[in-house]
Amino acid sequence: MLKLPPQVPLAQTPTPLQYLARASAEVGAKLWIKRDDLTGITLSGNKVRKLEFTLAKAMAEGCDTIITCGGLQSNHCRATAFACASLGLAAVLVLRGVPEGVDDGNLLLDKLAGAEICTFEPRVYTSQLPQLLEAKAEELRSQGRRPFIIPTGASDGTGIWGYVAAAMELQRDFESQNLQPSHIVCATGSGGTQAGLTLGVHLLQLETTVLGMAVCDDEAYFQRKVRADIEQWQQRYNRQVSLDDAAIVVNDRYIGPGYAKAGAEVFATIAWLARTEGIVLDPVYTGKAFHGLVSELRAGRLPSDRDIVFVHTGGIFGNFPQKQGYS
Ligand SMILES: Cc1ncc(COP(=O)(O)O)c(C=O)c1O
Repeated sequence: MLKLPPQVPLAQTPTPLQYLARASAEVGAKLWIKRDDLTGITLSGNKVRKLEFTLAKAMAEGCDTIITCGGLQSNHCRATAFACASLGLAAVLVLRGVPEGVDDGNLLLDKLAGAEICTFEPRVYTSQLPQLLEAKAEELRSQGRRPFIIPTGASDGTGIWGYVAAAMELQRDFESQNLQPSHIVCATGSGGTQAGLTLGVHLLQLETTVLGMAVCDDEAYFQRKVRADIEQWQQRYNRQVSLDDAAIVVNDRYIGPGYAKAGAEVFATIAWLARTEGIVLDPVYTGKAFHGLVSELRAGRLPSDRDIVFVHTGGIFGNFPQKQGYS
């Protein structure tokens, strides 16, 4: 049993681990899905697990306002807005992009949750993010507030505890189902989910490979990012692990046209899983990752005779602003 740092109880766990019988038969594989889309806080997916640790740290430091950042349709920002509302904290979201037309998807929900929204042109956001976050924090401090900044995706040495804890939960799932999966597969966007799972699998000595399907940046970038999150975890919590490079496995073949841009094949895979299993993915993260998983199985690059667990990290609201992809 690993000793975890303090966490605020937000997530409804354990989430179900389900066998995808019909999808497996069609693909010729043994596919399971860990339903982390059902962690709660308004369908907030993987972010809830990370925020349990990150918000516990923020509250222990006496903060009253959370500042975080992401794209206009960021699931992480929306999850943070709802988690803050449920804890009586204020949320300020620094978003990349300028909204057009009627608010949709996550942006609409951010506003319903009462978050303060600050939007910036992508060029300004990308080149000045640390300064934008610090300027907002300084403004709040000058008003007597106590801000706490959460980095993109809550992917850092603290947030990754969420998926270390999820690896412990998966270990119990595997024992109760008598499973020895060859792979645990997740979408990788800011790296924290993969970092937590990779670290958890290493600490628990599970014989399985964590495979991150990149949705935006390439393999080398995520190799560095996952390692950096784990190194920060070691420093913050005074732990030592010796993780060899081979433990960080990233597939960047399925990024497609770019972040939040999916090809027709991804929308087709999402629609196929929805009608085959009654489970909805999203075009930005889970749909791309699951499409990649199925494609790798079909190409014979992943084993069809071994159990494989896909972690459904949420993202359902990302479908609505991209509805044209289904027409
Ligand atoms: C629905 C969903 N799945 C997967 C991810 C990727 O997780 P991570 O940012 O920890 O790599 C994200 C966020 O980036 C997400 O919103």
